[in-house]
Amino acid sequence: MSQEKNTAIGKPMDRVDGRLKVTGAARYSAEMEVPDLVHAVLVMSAIAKGRIQQIDTQAAERAPGVLAVITHLNAPKLNFDKPEQRSFVDPMVGQHFPVLQSDTIYFNSQPIAVVVADTLEQAQYAASLVQVRYEEQTPATTVEAAMAEAFPPTESSQGGQPADVVRGNPDALASAQVRVEGSYTIPIEHHNPMEPHATIATWQGDKLTLYDKTQWVYNTRKHVALTFGMPEENVRVISPFVGGAFGSALRSWPHVTVAAIAARQVGRPVKLILTRQQMYTSVGFRPYTVQRVALGASNDGKLSAIVHEATAGTSMYEEYTEATLSATRMLYACPNLITRYRLVRLNTNTPTFMRAPGEVSGMYALECCLDELAHTLKLDPLELRMRNYAEVNPEDGLPWSSKFLKECYQVGAEKFGWSRRNLEPRSMRDGRYLVGMGMATATYPMYRLRAVAKARLLADGTAVVQSAGSDIGTGTYVIMTQIAADALGLPPERVRFELGDTDFPYSPVQGGSMLTASLGSAVQAACLAVREQALSLASTQPNSLLSNVKADEVEVEDGRLFLKQDASKGESYTDILKRANKDYIETEKDSEPGDESQRFSLHSFGAHFAEVHIDPEFGLVRVSRVVSVCDIGRVINTKTASSQVSGAVVGGIGKALMEYTQMDPRNGRIVNANLGEYHVPVNADVAAIETYFVGEPDLKANPLGARGVGEVGMVGVSAAIANAIFHATGKRIRDLPITPDKLL
Ligand code: MOS
Repeated sequence: MSQEKNTAIGKPMDRVDGRLKVTGAARYSAEMEVPDLVHAVLVMSAIAKGRIQQIDTQAAERAPGVLAVITHLNAPKLNFDKPEQRSFVDPMVGQHFPVLQSDTIYFNSQPIAVVVADTLEQAQYAASLVQVRYEEQTPATTVEAAMAEAFPPTESSQGGQPADVVRGNPDALASAQVRVEGSYTIPIEHHNPMEPHATIATWQGDKLTLYDKTQWVYNTRKHVALTFGMPEENVRVISPFVGGAFGSALRSWPHVTVAAIAARQVGRPVKLILTRQQMYTSVGFRPYTVQRVALGASNDGKLSAIVHEATAGTSMYEEYTEATLSATRMLYACPNLITRYRLVRLNTNTPTFMRAPGEVSGMYALECCLDELAHTLKLDPLELRMRNYAEVNPEDGLPWSSKFLKECYQVGAEKFGWSRRNLEPRSMRDGRYLVGMGMATATYPMYRLRAVAKARLLADGTAVVQSAGSDIGTGTYVIMTQIAADALGLPPERVRFELGDTDFPYSPVQGGSMLTASLGSAVQAACLAVREQALSLASTQPNSLLSNVKADEVEVEDGRLFLKQDASKGESYTDILKRANKDYIETEKDSEPGDESQRFSLHSFGAHFAEVHIDPEFGLVRVSRVVSVCDIGRVINTKTASSQVSGAVVGGIGKALMEYTQMDPRNGRIVNANLGEYHVPVNADVAAIETYFVGEPDLKANPLGARGVGEVGMVGVSAAIANAIFHATGKRIRDLPITPDKLL
């Protein structure tokens, strides 16, 4: 049975959860009402390296309302180093941070104690009474200072990728007609979702329930179950709403475990909310990365050599690596290439995925360096990219499942008015403002993992579809509703999609822009299966107009199955179920990728065009316009997809111009751990953003033909802006963010 009619898919449908969110009815983790709840507050270390010599909790224990003070001295011994704990989102090499297990300090503002009290204020006050004496050592805090100890990451930490990749002639750069080279740095950046991370932990005997902010309930369950040495079935994780995450809630971080420890100790439900300041050392960050890119080309702009090296910070206990160099290996047709990846151990917590991790950092450097090459060659930057267009993936020789990057360039250039751009830098003005135009390419892989969905069709003509996926604000609720509605042949108002609970069937992580392809395929399969079940029920019913009818002879619309040949012969779901005396029928379907990734190279693409207005007196940059065109295969919801790309562009503006976590190198302390001093773009920083989609459903990639959206929208944006700034000013700033001081 196929999906003949797409009526909901492709529409700009409003979020089904929108009303709940704007009216405050949507409950986030910290807002769940749990009776008898008490409050936990973390105590953080004041040094970045060394050990706790003495920790005095007596005053805290005697403070009013305090139920427990837990440190490494009295916390239960847990399992933090089981290899099976490693999930898709954890670094594959190293040991999970062993929270409250020893006196070792790995980073500044590391959790070293938790205070539990009747009220939040009592817990906060008591936490301030905990006295600690440290044995302090000199921490490693900057990549530059530790560069001499940089090491190639273990292959398994990079999903089997070797740290060094060589393609073709390794000496090709030396013989290139034209060479350009640059060194680029990405600062530490923090996700800063509006909703802070929070967990409510509650034990019922040996069973644990966690209300947790997470992008993957099943992973939180597995992590906590293994840590406590208990069966996974005894842990339930509930997370119906997530107020933004950007990667910060992919892993299960130490505070989740601490909440469970505390709740068990006091025998009552415990709520633990990270403060904004604690968010800077508790849930990962984009690592500081130094990159060197060298490009060799012929005089007519054909790339003959690419050398791209990256060195990033990681923690003392895990090897976190990301796909910084992946796009460089596949994006442009170039026979000779070297990529090298190195890590440096620092006294920080472990970095993590953040907003198109890896691709965003690597493509910033590559796309800026290409702009430098275009300038050297006196060639239009867009033309340079066209001359190096990859018709097949140069890394593995595989054909693309679908690639409309040329259309992204063409549509983007036209909508943006790229032809109005002068080639010469510092040649365009608008009154006193310098005007610049820059562009960059975007790409992001299509990932897909196993997912399971359950579809239940009710006799009243409605349906409920469930799977444990997350919706971090991206629109999972609405797009799964659309996919289900079309597969069932029901109007979307009669379909309810439920997510965020380990009592629902298995879902992979909402991350890597993969949930649409992964879970969408499962939702579609489950809904098609339950509709087929309704038909086989009908075909056995003696009085049915659909007796002995085959699946492919039938269509369904508005909850009514009817013959394609004769629409007057049909039955509604309600009639079929009532006649069978059933309140509902239901089916669960497992959906897994096949061998498509062996046969095709699966990637989304895009092109970003940015215009800046720069005040030459003050160095102030205003991104006046961005046009982003993406090829993401099928667009399930034109409204939420467009919102994803707009949001990604805003993320790119933040990355290019303002986002920057400052650490005091002497003590590893983050000095701007608040939203007043860590600047993210606000409405006043964002002017016109136009988004467009090109391409067609990519049915070679997955049954839905959708490759996912979100991250591809951010890759290249900061490069397009940096390139526009160069075009406006003639100044090439290679260290992000490009703050006014760098332009004066
Ligand atoms: Mo994304 S950084 O995989 O949430």
